[in-house]
Amino acid sequence: MPEQKKFYLTTPIYYVNARPHIGHAYTTLTADTIARRKRLEGYDVRFLTGTDEHGQKIQRSADAAGIAPQQFADEVSASFRSLWERMGITYDDYIRTTEPRHKQGVQKLFSTLKEKGYIYLDSYTGQYCVSDEAFVEVGPGEPCPDCGRITETITEENYYFRLSAFQEELINRIESDDPDYRFEIEPAARKNEVLSFLRGDVSKILREEQAVGRESGLDGVYPASLYSGIFKFSKQGNPFIPGSLKDLSISRTSFKWGIPVPGDEKHVIYVWLDALANYMTALGYGSAGDSLWQKYWPADLHLVGKEIIRFHCVYWPAFLLAAELPLPKKVQAHGWLLFEESKMSKSRGNIVRSETILDAFGSLKPELGKAEQDLFATDVLRYFLLREIPFGQDGSFSFDALVTRYNADLANGYGNLVSRTLSMIAKNFDGEVPAPLTKPFFAETLDATSASVASDLNELVFTRAVTSIASAITSVDRYFSESEPWKLAKVDTQREELASVLYNAAEAIRIITALLYPFLPYATARVWEQLGLGDIGAAAKSGELNNLVWGGLKPGTKLGTLAPIFPRADKELITRMNEAEQQNRPAAVPAEAKAEGVVPTTDDKSQAIAPPADTVVAEEAKQHISIDDFIKVELRAAVVKVAERIPKADKLLRLEVDLGDEQRQILSGIAEWYTPEELIGRRIIIVANLAPRKMRGLESHGMLLAASEGENGKPMLATFAEDVTPGTRLK
Ligand code: MSP
Repeated sequence: MPEQKKFYLTTPIYYVNARPHIGHAYTTLTADTIARRKRLEGYDVRFLTGTDEHGQKIQRSADAAGIAPQQFADEVSASFRSLWERMGITYDDYIRTTEPRHKQGVQKLFSTLKEKGYIYLDSYTGQYCVSDEAFVEVGPGEPCPDCGRITETITEENYYFRLSAFQEELINRIESDDPDYRFEIEPAARKNEVLSFLRGDVSKILREEQAVGRESGLDGVYPASLYSGIFKFSKQGNPFIPGSLKDLSISRTSFKWGIPVPGDEKHVIYVWLDALANYMTALGYGSAGDSLWQKYWPADLHLVGKEIIRFHCVYWPAFLLAAELPLPKKVQAHGWLLFEESKMSKSRGNIVRSETILDAFGSLKPELGKAEQDLFATDVLRYFLLREIPFGQDGSFSFDALVTRYNADLANGYGNLVSRTLSMIAKNFDGEVPAPLTKPFFAETLDATSASVASDLNELVFTRAVTSIASAITSVDRYFSESEPWKLAKVDTQREELASVLYNAAEAIRIITALLYPFLPYATARVWEQLGLGDIGAAAKSGELNNLVWGGLKPGTKLGTLAPIFPRADKELITRMNEAEQQNRPAAVPAEAKAEGVVPTTDDKSQAIAPPADTVVAEEAKQHISIDDFIKVELRAAVVKVAERIPKADKLLRLEVDLGDEQRQILSGIAEWYTPEELIGRRIIIVANLAPRKMRGLESHGMLLAASEGENGKPMLATFAEDVTPGTRLK
């Protein structure tokens, strides 16, 4: 027997600072669909998911929730895992980065990198984005260029990884077409993004050179820099700027929630080095038993959201090259699920929970127990996401579109075809599949559909695969209607013709059902039983769902018990889902976007602009204010000139801010989170026409704006990405 081909597939491991939402489900459901398809193609699949539990972000969330980070991680990790159970996700392993097997493996990787000379100790001052857990190249006080959140100035003695040593090899591997050497990144837009990051700003230099060329009358002449040694060239002949890829800090000392650096325990290992290694540690890298590691590494496919492409396509392969380990074959990025026009995320407050969809669609099947209702509803969500959103691009999610797609494709399309065909077989042929006389016109078309679905799924073009299955359903449905079997059934002499129509429709349903199985595992299992074919899981294992050939349905097969599969959903379901999400939101205004007053002292909270997020009742939040109301609040850009602590007031800082035509004193209760040094020079936003008030004998003439997540979260100062003139009014 030929050796079974293996396929090792991973999802990102999800941060435990937020509960799962359908953005996470999108990645997991896609991975599950791929895993199911690969299994039915005969691959020995290993499918890994899990949770990312270390780092400052998690520590802060746990602190804000008032519980120990481990307990916090335990709870949220369990909520991810139980959701995947409810959804019937067929993962083979669930890794948590707080498990001993993982910690061991990460320490081994760190030690290996060090032994090989790729790690050194140095000190560094830079801007750190806690949300992205990454140092970013911006000036003090400037927001993170990726997520827009405020960055923090951090000076630390850190261990560094010689990332710069891998610039050329990474470029060569990413550009290569050789399947044994290349590191594949899809889609092309993401690959180009990674390559431009790795190459440095080549085009800027070329533009400058061209401008010089034009001025000197040498326009069109090959830019001088190509000869001057600024560039080097990759194997494919593309220019890059050597040295533009900087070394990476891979340890932290300012907090403890992480894996200690072996031999220097005051450092914890950088959370992304820790997290990325999960793909290896889950296979036993660094543990006693590493047979899985031997069998499945390298990964065949890392599925990731587009925002974490750099970590997976620059840092990760560089760590592996340094450790002299094989690189994953491919990283595939998908786009974002947008809800209400922006990326669904906890901090924006615009998330949709999978539970809302499971409960609503599950209720369409009152005859089922809860576990089966969940699986049914998961089919609906999975089908929608893969059908509706071109893979790799961003796509909008709405309950309206979900219900519309469900009714059109599943209730009226596939479900209706199954039920009208099988009920006519039950009625006219005593529940046994009749023998056909003729082969229908679409027998060949379905062969072509199977082939194109196979190649579309191989290339992960889900939308096209589902669309071609949907159009096969339409053709069969049309054939059924045009053949008018209900008329044939009334005439004895047309029994053979009736048998042919019903056989052909049922056989087409068998093929379509096999093709739909990875997308609708629960519903197709029911159809398979109704066709009298037994357990679809067993059929998937035996290869029966692959290499589909017309005629596989044997005449005489006894149908199973018939029951409707996809009841129609009415519009009321949309309202219910919307209401469920509204109720689940802490407030109508997203916590982070909300200008939340930083409470000046703990003994006087009366002047805070907004009460804490979770005390805002939905009703109140729905009330609107007029533009005139808004205009009454004078919001101005200001620059912090002086910042100092106030003796005997732990929480308070005294600031002097420049408003262009005046300098003002403001007292603010942010001393717990900001040092005076960090604030000087920052451009902030203040409420300038608040009545002055006295605190600790000092007068405060205004209030600065900040946003805190939760009641005790750090107040993150509202700021500007551009150089705004002090005093400018916000409106
Ligand atoms: N912990 C890191 C990943 C480490 S992997 C070694 C992380 N976690 S995350 O929870 O913030 O996001 C993980 C993934 O969830 C994203 O890459 C993406 O696949 C998915 N999504 C989270 N929000 C999403 C949307 N709104 N839309 C689509 N996918 C989303 O990053």
